[in-house]
Amino acid sequence: DKLVLAYSGGLDTSIAIPWLREHYGVEVHAICGDVGQGEEELVGLEEKALASGAASARVVDLRERFVTHCVWPALRALATYEGRYLLGTSLARPVLAEAQVAFAKELGARYVSHGCTGKGNDQVRFELGFMTLGPELEIIAPWREWEIESREDAIDYAEKAGIPITASRTKIYSRDRNLWHISHEGGSLEDPGTAPPDDVWTWTVDPRQAPDAPQRVMIDFEAGVPVGAFGGQLGPVALIERLNAVGAAHGVGRVDIVENRLVGMKSRGVYETPGGTILYEALRSLRALTMERDLSRTCERLALEYADVVYTGRWFHPLRESLDAFFTAANRDVSGSVTVELYKGRATTVACTSTKSLYSEDLATFGVGTGYDRVDSKGFVRLYGLPGQVAARVHGTDSEL
Ligand code: ARG
Ligand code: SIN
Repeated sequence: DKLVLAYSGGLDTSIAIPWLREHYGVEVHAICGDVGQGEEELVGLEEKALASGAASARVVDLRERFVTHCVWPALRALATYEGRYLLGTSLARPVLAEAQVAFAKELGARYVSHGCTGKGNDQVRFELGFMTLGPELEIIAPWREWEIESREDAIDYAEKAGIPITASRTKIYSRDRNLWHISHEGGSLEDPGTAPPDDVWTWTVDPRQAPDAPQRVMIDFEAGVPVGAFGGQLGPVALIERLNAVGAAHGVGRVDIVENRLVGMKSRGVYETPGGTILYEALRSLRALTMERDLSRTCERLALEYADVVYTGRWFHPLRESLDAFFTAANRDVSGSVTVELYKGRATTVACTSTKSLYSEDLATFGVGTGYDRVDSKGFVRLYGLPGQVAARVHGTDSEL
């Protein structure tokens, strides 16, 4: 039988190859999705998989699909998990699972497998993807079965199996990198009472060391989706890469949180999302300018739902699809240009223009304008305050008067 393994080249998925062959007698075919994790992780990956005993190995470029299908919709919803996390890892899992199932179907494989631990969110995201896109496939999760319990065990296993690894025995962080973010967990971060050591951060410069001169970037949006930056049109991958570069140079996008995992425990996560942080700031400002008030309030409420759905692995789910339909409609007129200033770890909108702007100087002016009659306010304020006035008269208030 054939098995398709989601392979990253790291220690866990490397030892999974000999382990799966030995315990299930399967032919292991490795697939690695390129979601922008970078050259260091991808170069020589196929050879490495083959040297570890894979029957075949392939790297597929999923970068554009990742951005247009997953990142842009989450941005358009302004979805953040528990208020801070821009969902970088959660958003990459659907496209990875999809490519893996496609490969399994092509090979006529019986099994799919991944290297996620049994304690995290990623196992859920991968497996819900497999269950919906390839229900005929049987799932094997080595981390839930094998005796290997620690990094040391894993290194011992690799040495015995004679497979090439570059991991060291010292406890290090668990990192997950793609075009949108890098996450860091584990190691000394497991104590939330300890500040992240300097060696955690691998992408953004320390805001204290960032340039003393602020830098401004302009981003253009069409219907809630970025279409250009720096004064020109840019494709989705290039756009994020350019914003990541300037954001990282100014120390933008660092987040350090304790989050609630789906599987029950709290976990400490440190994230770097430089370009994403700039885009969220910019789109939030453009929305403020162009979106009607009540629609905007509803977007804010549904953004919580959207983030939960994505975080908890329900990407291929009618709720996510329906929320996307809502956010697509809600963002129809969220188009325009935003200038964001980057300075010592912060990204702040300084200007925003749009032909769809609902902001009316004529309505807002402190001088006399047209379209708003001050006299109308008298009746409005009275009726608006009426329910509270009745309640106060009948029940009283907590004021001392
Ligand atoms: N806690 C984050 C999430 O659940 C990041 C997970 C990182 N995953 C990893 N395999 N290192 O989305
Ligand atoms: C893992 O457990 O494989 C990584 C962390 C997570 O999935 O939340």
